[in-house]
Amino acid sequence: MALRQIVHLPEPVLRRKAKPVTTFDRDLQTLIDDMIETMREAPGVGLAAPQIDLPMQLAVVEYVEGEDEEENEDAPAKPKKLYVLINPEITRVSDEKVIGVEGCLSIPGLIGEVERHEAIQVKALNRHGSPVKLKVDGWMARIFQHEIDHLNGVLFTDKAIRVWKPYTEHGNKLRFCRMKFLTPSRKGAKEKPLNLCDFVTLR
Ligand code: NI
Repeated sequence: MALRQIVHLPEPVLRRKAKPVTTFDRDLQTLIDDMIETMREAPGVGLAAPQIDLPMQLAVVEYVEGEDEEENEDAPAKPKKLYVLINPEITRVSDEKVIGVEGCLSIPGLIGEVERHEAIQVKALNRHGSPVKLKVDGWMARIFQHEIDHLNGVLFTDKAIRVWKPYTEHGNKLRFCRMKFLTPSRKGAKEKPLNLCDFVTLR
């Protein structure tokens, strides 16, 4: 396995619609393993192939459900769920939408509030080319929507209600940082504290 280089805006590949994967050979397995390793090393909770300069409909997602709200350190660690999404299609969405804070490995230094469907159903292929149907909700549904957007050349900043640049006031040991309001849509909005753990978790 090897780490792949993550590309940043304004790389044009991030704006292209990715092509479907049609060959499920050994090279694809190596690529998927490299993407998982690259996502973990970043660290991130998802990585789409365009982010490593490959316009292919392939994304990996790994996230611990409920990690953010878990306060009890004695509780057993929850297993991480790892998904490989190939040629994914969102087939159903919940009417309910939720606003959450996102970042992106390809847009370092910016985070934003994005409205997403609370739950979705996805049709995709797994790493061996077999069809799978997935139902996800909560943060997993948010990550899926973020990654599937990548495969269509869409970035969270396109959909964000507001975008901020987070910064710390006392070096890098702060658990909390403050966000500076960047977009002009709500003049006079006050800066508010952000849980830095969320920022790290959410890429
Ligand atoms: Ni992203």
